[in-house]
Amino acid sequence: MTAHNHTPSVAFGDTSPMNGGGKNASASALPEARRDTIKPALMTTSQRFASAAGAASARQRPAPPLRGFAARRLIGVDDLSDGDIAYLLDLADHYAGYLMRAAPAPRRLAGKTQINLFFEDSTRTNMSFELAGKKLGADVIVVPVGASSVHKGESYIDTAQTLAAMGADIMIVRAKQPGLHHDLDARLNCVILNAGDGAREHPTQALLDAATIRAQFGTLNGRVIAICGDIRHSRVAGSDARLFKRLGAEVRFVGPRHLMPEDDQFTDISRAHSLAEGLDGADIVMGLRMQFERMGEDGRDAARGYFEEFGLTHETLKLARPDARIMHPGPMNRGVEIDGALADDPDRSLILRQVFYGVPIRMACLDALLTRGE
Ligand code: NCD
Repeated sequence: MTAHNHTPSVAFGDTSPMNGGGKNASASALPEARRDTIKPALMTTSQRFASAAGAASARQRPAPPLRGFAARRLIGVDDLSDGDIAYLLDLADHYAGYLMRAAPAPRRLAGKTQINLFFEDSTRTNMSFELAGKKLGADVIVVPVGASSVHKGESYIDTAQTLAAMGADIMIVRAKQPGLHHDLDARLNCVILNAGDGAREHPTQALLDAATIRAQFGTLNGRVIAICGDIRHSRVAGSDARLFKRLGAEVRFVGPRHLMPEDDQFTDISRAHSLAEGLDGADIVMGLRMQFERMGEDGRDAARGYFEEFGLTHETLKLARPDARIMHPGPMNRGVEIDGALADDPDRSLILRQVFYGVPIRMACLDALLTRGE
């Protein structure tokens, strides 16, 4: 197990495989219910999660923030108070305990209606919101946008309004139109949760990334996090940077100048234009997808020579701290921004752990926004 300077403050403690301690976990560490159902290919990852179950299951439901859960919607990280953020991370760890034991979670959202309305493609986010709502007992509808009246010319607002009229309590919306989420928040009588809006925000991705880092290193406070690649077109980079800073991390943007945000944006975040400079002393190296679809016509040129200079590999990860870990929100473009062997290396990569945390973090967000922790 890798030595860490920080005392873990989260559910998994320092016995946790999420802290690297589960590397040698045997199949017998799996709860009975899981042993038969987990496919061999997933064994390693699942074993790590499963053997943390003992520690995580002891984690009590956290009390809501002293003055109550403040956020009434979740469109950007700044909708959350510091108390909200701490509560959501603790609540996610509480729910992670249920998932790791394959135990049913309390049906706190029974009778509530959740609508997933994704006008852009999604695998992880859409499915993990669906699973999160179902685990908590909500009635969940995933709108098949491709087969909806959007293709008959109905506006996004009208589509959302129609669905809200069916009695939605919460609507999970992904769309690139600027301002759409705020318009919906103003017009609809349900909670609006942003599942990604163009290149601006993706707050639940930032929360699940923070939960993943906390499980690995105990805290984000004082940790150095290098966010690498196509920052300019990434909503994940923006939400991550905002949230990680609030949790006390040192955040750096690393990449070529043409993939950096405008100079007047994120002025409090340092920028490095080489991996040698940007990864020096980093605990976490966060790769980002080259978001060609947001780049316009000359998008493919942006990737020319990129891997040679900025590709994340076992070799380039040596520029970071010896115990550094790699993360990526997915979907990955192997060989474009990250080497497949590094992404798949369970000793260095937290990528599947990020996916795992997507479910409990989204359970926490749905629960907090709909019940306010009461
Ligand atoms: C990202 C997204 O869609 O914002 N992925 C995700 O939600 N996990 C990142 C991307 O599109 O590259």
